[in-house]
Amino acid sequence: MTAVTDATTSPQDADVPEREFAVRLRGVSRSFGVGPRAVVALDGVDLAVRAGEFVCLLGASGCGKSTLLNLVAGLDEPTTGSVDVATGRPAVMFQEPGLMPWLSARRNVELPLRVAGLGRAERRAVAEELLDLVRLGGQGSRRPHQLSGGMRQRVALARALACTRTGATGLPLLLMDEPFGALDAITRDILQAELLRVWRATGTAVVFVTHDVREAVRLAERVVLLSSRPGRVVGEWRLRPGDGGGTAGPTGAAGAEVTEEITAALREVISSHGRH
Ligand SMILES: Nc1ncnc2c1ncn2[C@@H]1O[C@H](COP(=O)(O)OP(=O)(O)OP(=O)(O)O)[C@@H](O)[C@H]1O
Ligand SMILES: [Mg+2]
Repeated sequence: MTAVTDATTSPQDADVPEREFAVRLRGVSRSFGVGPRAVVALDGVDLAVRAGEFVCLLGASGCGKSTLLNLVAGLDEPTTGSVDVATGRPAVMFQEPGLMPWLSARRNVELPLRVAGLGRAERRAVAEELLDLVRLGGQGSRRPHQLSGGMRQRVALARALACTRTGATGLPLLLMDEPFGALDAITRDILQAELLRVWRATGTAVVFVTHDVREAVRLAERVVLLSSRPGRVVGEWRLRPGDGGGTAGPTGAAGAEVTEEITAALREVISSHGRH
């Protein structure tokens, strides 16, 4: 584990060729409204995510995590700065599964493929493969209300992965905004492990938003901490698999230490927000 605190960009990024980044934000600011009542949600954010990298974005409620993710997803535009994404259309997954209730699980997964114009047989094959990947093989004909909350989130994960299979060129990129926030602890544990398995199997880059430090340490290769009002990158930690990052296993002594360190930094960010 190496902590790179008060860093806005990784020193290593300077040596990495541009084509190896899945996402690159430079000097990104986003304000809502104008005049004295304007909310500066993000200010001067520099962040690069490499191809295949798993990054967790951590910060207090309201610090601008979803705003940042929306910018990367192309759902919003920065007020200043640039957002470069090395993929046609990133896949997005939110806290709510957002499935179409009248469609079966399989047809929900097929939807982005249908929109992209893939033929019926191909759609079906990809959907079956992805449902297998999230361990829902054989459940494809069930409708969302016939599935548990955790199963619905797995369908949403399969659908998000389908977006990366639409034939759009570029590096696969999965954006996740607190996707497991509404689930019980055990289901969350299982889905975290599933997500890491899927990440390894697909080689997609992942930007995962959470306000849960333990979740971040468990999943990420790199944890990026955002401050509040305005949101800026104020800390960055690289995790080795032995620390817990990218394994979803027990965090071990080094993992426990970094969890404590990040928690202290998050606490500091939250309390300094109150002092403004
Ligand atoms: N469309 C909008 N119009 C006005 N203000 C907005 C808009 N979207 C976000 N904001 C403001 O920008 C700030 C950041 O919001 P954002 O949703 O990005 O926070 P967050 O870090 O995702 O919080 P949470 O952890 O609670 O989801 C907040 O102060 C919010 O009120
Ligand atoms: Mg949010």
